Amino acid sequence: MLYSKKVMEHIANPHNVGEIENADGVGEVGNAKCGDIMKMYIKVDDGVITDAKFKTFGCGSAFATSSMATDMIKGKPVTEALKLTNQAVVEALDGLPSVKIHCSVLAEQAVKAAVADYYQRQGTDPTPYIGTCDDQHSCPSCCQDH
Ligand code: FES
Repeated sequence: MLYSKKVMEHIANPHNVGEIENADGVGEVGNAKCGDIMKMYIKVDDGVITDAKFKTFGCGSAFATSSMATDMIKGKPVTEALKLTNQAVVEALDGLPSVKIHCSVLAEQAVKAAVADYYQRQGTDPTPYIGTCDDQHSCPSCCQDH
């Protein structure tokens, strides 16, 4: 299996690993394909993500994609973070082997789950922003591959 240089860098030295105390949103998702899990923490100030960290019991690709995804959402409004797709993360990493694409879905869903939790804590129904089970790849609550 061939990993890009960027993926190797993020596997060797993943960014934003850990947890945030007093996070404003926490999302935990499981990967239906491999059973691996990921926990994502975000700190939000005035609707903008000021910090993001993750923990995972996933593979190297899960580390690389979460590392890149957390880098990409930091400094962005939560509404922008929701638009982050696993394809965008994979592109930013200069690609992933096709058998590893499902790992990048874990990162995307963890971001969505953390933002959903943030909305819930604000007393806002996240469904209009996050979508429901009928939406492809947008279901942080059940985290199945639809
Ligand atoms: Fe499970 Fe990559 S094999 S996240």
